Amino acid sequence: MRIRLHAVLGGLVLCAHSPVSTVAGEEKDSVPDFTRDVLPIFEAKCLRCHGAKKRAGKLDMRTLDALRKGGVTSPAIQPGNARKSLLIELLHYNEMPPKKETPRVTKEELELLRKWINAMPVPSATSPNR
Ligand code: HEC
Repeated sequence: MRIRLHAVLGGLVLCAHSPVSTVAGEEKDSVPDFTRDVLPIFEAKCLRCHGAKKRAGKLDMRTLDALRKGGVTSPAIQPGNARKSLLIELLHYNEMPPKKETPRVTKEELELLRKWINAMPVPSATSPNR
């Protein structure tokens, strides 16, 4: 990618790498995107057991639909409500990936996943969600 560096003597160079530049508060950055932000975490830490080859707990984590559907227990995610999402709960209590497994999900990743779920539109009308 060509960046007009020749026209820039200093200050502007930083902008080339950060398309997201409206940071109002510390917590307030852009909404995580499934394919861009979430899936890479799952790929690195979950899909080995919840993907093409294995579906532990009958859970497939490769698509949003499959996550909404969930596994043997319940849907893995509750759009708009990270606190009620099984996936978040298991990560929060350090149950997934299973204890001996590495790499584990970091605090930052967990925050990102929370934000992602909370930002999801709640399916209205269809779900009496209380
Ligand atoms: C080494 C394999 C392994 C890895 C890696 C792993 N899991 Fe699991 N996961 C399991 C097994 C096995 C179960 C079923 C546990 C049970 O039923 O007690 C399970 C169950 C689950 C469930 C509950 C499914 C249901 O409805 O009962 C969720 C949600 C889940 N995993 C999320 C994750 C997430 C998120 C990651 C990545 C951070 C992950 N898992 C990584 C093996 C794995």
